[in-house]
Amino acid sequence: MHQFLQENSYPKELRESIISLPREEGWIAPYMYNYKGIWIPPHHLYGALRCQQHFQAQDSDIILCTLPKCGTTWLKALVFALTTRKQYSHETQSPLLTTNPHGLIPLMENIYSRENSPNFPLNNGVRLLSTHLPHALLQKSVVESKCKLIYLCRNQKDTLVSLWHYANKSRGEVLGLGAIPFPEAFNKYRRGASVYGPFWDHMLGYWKESLENPSKVLFLKYEEIKEEPEVQLRRIAAFLGCPFSEEEDEGGVAGGIVRLCSFESLSNLEVNKTGKGPVIPIGNNTYFRKGEVGDWRNHLTDEMATRLDQIVEEKFKGTGLKL
Ligand code: A3P
Repeated sequence: MHQFLQENSYPKELRESIISLPREEGWIAPYMYNYKGIWIPPHHLYGALRCQQHFQAQDSDIILCTLPKCGTTWLKALVFALTTRKQYSHETQSPLLTTNPHGLIPLMENIYSRENSPNFPLNNGVRLLSTHLPHALLQKSVVESKCKLIYLCRNQKDTLVSLWHYANKSRGEVLGLGAIPFPEAFNKYRRGASVYGPFWDHMLGYWKESLENPSKVLFLKYEEIKEEPEVQLRRIAAFLGCPFSEEEDEGGVAGGIVRLCSFESLSNLEVNKTGKGPVIPIGNNTYFRKGEVGDWRNHLTDEMATRLDQIVEEKFKGTGLKL
């Protein structure tokens, strides 16, 4: 089992940090801890703490911010393909064909759980990074620099279902633990005790920031990308200051990126069918389940769906955010 998933092998620094924190049974680790209001697995907390200490944002950084299971893998693929499109001008050259998107855009909490001074790869002179941390816990230099943040959120009911499947697979493959019964997962989720939850605080934090500072934070929705992928890709390109040129439009470059990053295309690549993640050895195929909108209907009772809708209605009231 991975070192950070075994409590007795935690580094002293982590043991000291978590000793007084509230904890409960985890989704993707035996326990998760409540750190400054968010529920976080210990290996990510360790990475987040070290990231706080050592990471220095640069103005040119692009940081993708998501809750787990909101479409992080897809966003990583789209942003990678978009920002490196001149480097890999022919689709057959794309590193996405041989590397899982998580291997191209690292999750900072994961990387810092392994090293203090990681050498992040440069793509076209830019560091492409990702985090699951809420806006309130972002490192000071991230907030104060001119680096760009792209947030992706997803309907809360589909996110719960996706998280439940992922957690169960991860528990079986990596932890050797049994599945979480769905009603239990539902209860944890609606209490806010999901991975990096409560989900409403996470979404609202970035939503408010995107309204106050639209040139710093772009707020995207999974469902909107599903509906009009090219339109959303162009939004990302405009936000990052790299819109498609006329020549690129004539060559159908945006459409090519959308196709390359589609669920069908990525999930059928050998690397995503048989490869494994670099930090936690879970199969890359775990990141590609159905990729649909509305799968919650196959899992939630009407009562469960209503309860989650009520939470969103209450928490988002007056904010303008709808899921
Ligand atoms: P489902 O479990 O509903 O299928 P994350 O990348 O944040 O871990 O989120 C995973 C979810 O995004 C999974 O949802 C997965 O199938 C979906 N997904 C992964 N790649 C995708 C893609 N290229 N297009 C659409 N959805 C994708």
